[in-house]
Amino acid sequence: MKTHIVKIENDYYNDDLKKCANILLKDGIGAFPTETVYGLGGNGLSPTAVKKIYEAKGRPSDNPLILHISDLNMLNTITTNLNENSKKLIDAFWPGPLTLIFEKTDIVPNETSGGLKTIAVRFPKNEIAQTLIKLTGKPIAAPSANISGKPSPTRFSHVEYDLFNKVDFIIDGGNCSFGLESTIIDCTSNTPIILRPGSITKEMIESVIGNVMLDKSLLKSEYSEKAIAPGMKYKHYAPNADVVLVKSLDVPKTINELALALKNENKKIGILCDISNVKNYDNQKYVVQVLDDNNLYHSLRKFDFLNVDIVYAEFLQENDANLALMNRLKKSANYNIIEQ
Ligand code: TXA
Ligand code: MG
Repeated sequence: MKTHIVKIENDYYNDDLKKCANILLKDGIGAFPTETVYGLGGNGLSPTAVKKIYEAKGRPSDNPLILHISDLNMLNTITTNLNENSKKLIDAFWPGPLTLIFEKTDIVPNETSGGLKTIAVRFPKNEIAQTLIKLTGKPIAAPSANISGKPSPTRFSHVEYDLFNKVDFIIDGGNCSFGLESTIIDCTSNTPIILRPGSITKEMIESVIGNVMLDKSLLKSEYSEKAIAPGMKYKHYAPNADVVLVKSLDVPKTINELALALKNENKKIGILCDISNVKNYDNQKYVVQVLDDNNLYHSLRKFDFLNVDIVYAEFLQENDANLALMNRLKKSANYNIIEQ
């Protein structure tokens, strides 16, 4: 398959974007930027298009997709029984990096919802994404535009690396502003549950609808098969290197000791650290990257590119603001944590 590359700077209504919309309307698939990560889109109401998405990503078909919309009328065609909590969250955070779970209507095919009776929906803020969806007039199913199991793409180059010649088009819209996937919240039962943390934090959500719970799998420090969000059971975000999370009262000291021991075995070492600790690591000896939301996936990909064997990452405090970052980092480390 030949991939058509489209670069958008600020003319969101140019002919190239219309061509991309037409490709989607003919059951083609293509990648586009959002404010969280790049998405791999297709017509979410077309089983043919959705099957192509799963195939291009190599994603298990029981892991449901998020439908992306560009206005609330679209929401009413694909969901039913909108409750008060959902309405309040929509008012407060849409368009933006928040995905809500709803009861689905019959027009949403089982291929999209992974056989569930519910459907995940997001109204992205990114203007290229919004315009593309508007031009198709369809809810666009879009998982992150990476090969399944690899870090989500936050830059055009990441998508190109994973999906060139596997999709009909890739839109280059620059770097994503948040860099971690959207927060997912399920409000279909009485107590809303955060299934995946993101930049809309628990405290931000609670300021709008009161108490919410964190899915049990998010509280554990181990791999869990019984996570509620179906996708949570798959290994995610993993680079080729082994990632080890390090918890210690003096983290730079501990990581430097661990790294030095391995360096003597001729291993290539990567370090992910808080910005305030960068100065504590020798960037001549190690590949040192700053650990923050915006840079995590790029760093993981960079370690792969530079053939790093092992990555030591600082375990940051799991407060409200860091919850999403630490959740993704724990997964990329496969919950391999050293405490000293
Ligand atoms: O920021 C994002 O959400 C990005 C951009 C492209 O919008 N998309 C994204 O999609 O991260 P994906 O497919 O990589 O992750 C979707 C997650 C999966 O973990 C999936 O299991 C969960 O949403 N999900 C989808 N439908 C669900 C449902 N009905 N109930 C519970 N979880 C659901
Ligand atoms: Mg993903």
